[in-house]
Amino acid sequence: MILFLLLLPLAALSTSHPLHPTLHRKSPTTPSTTLQWTQAFTLIANVTNPSLDLNPSINHFQLTGIHIGAGLSTAVLTATTGRILYENGTGTPQTTGIASDLGGVYPYSLTITPLPADEPDADYVDYVGIDIGTAQDGIGVDSISGGGEWPALFGPERGTFVVCYEEKPAYGRPQYPVRFARERVVDGVAYQQIPLGCAPIVLVPQCAELEAVEPGAVYNHDFVRSVRCFEDVGGG
Ligand SMILES: *[C@@H]1O[C@H](CO)[C@@H](O)[C@H](O)[C@H]1NC(C)=O
Ligand SMILES: *[C@@H]1O[C@H](CO)[C@@H](O)[C@H](O)[C@H]1NC(C)=O
Repeated sequence: MILFLLLLPLAALSTSHPLHPTLHRKSPTTPSTTLQWTQAFTLIANVTNPSLDLNPSINHFQLTGIHIGAGLSTAVLTATTGRILYENGTGTPQTTGIASDLGGVYPYSLTITPLPADEPDADYVDYVGIDIGTAQDGIGVDSISGGGEWPALFGPERGTFVVCYEEKPAYGRPQYPVRFARERVVDGVAYQQIPLGCAPIVLVPQCAELEAVEPGAVYNHDFVRSVRCFEDVGGG
């Protein structure tokens, strides 16, 4: 079901950052906003087009996971505290992912995988989860390019994160699931296509404390990569 298309300036699409969202973030508009460096962060949703916000607004809601099965959680937004995450990897976007310590001996990680084929928009919208396992490559927080851009979560392909509204939330169908809408190219023109009932968001890192790894854990924090973060995304 195709609902509407957001046409982006083509110039913004032909850069050499294939792993970054095509939404190009501007320099901070508030001069007093200073970015810190952190090992851990929560991700705060910033609605990129206020006219597409959900009602009530989910602007500045935080990313967390809702349990849907053993070791599986759907990524959702919550008005309360988000999950503490960190970037794990060896330095290039191709070998970087986002992980989380949830207690227990196994790591949890942000995953972006195809939606079941019978879901509406499954041809261009991906499922986002926080699932047991090591970090999925190609997902990270932009701390590498620097140079006045906001840090924000990027996915393994061009596209934008969206948050959707489920009218009848249920187990496995939480109210505010976060998904990833892949950029589409139609007749040579690139589009950000936002599914109906969903709002496009950037997920901005807010500084947090890295949690301790449980004794006996089968993983460690040796590959945690520091990223830039905001002290308080909502506060400007
Ligand atoms: C959040 O979005 C607003 C527009 O809705 C924009 O002015 C602001 O720069 C964004 N902040 C971040 C941290 O992305
Ligand atoms: C962190 O990255 C290292 C190096 O690529 C990898 O061996 C390890 O499994 C990763 N840990 C997690 C929790 O993803």
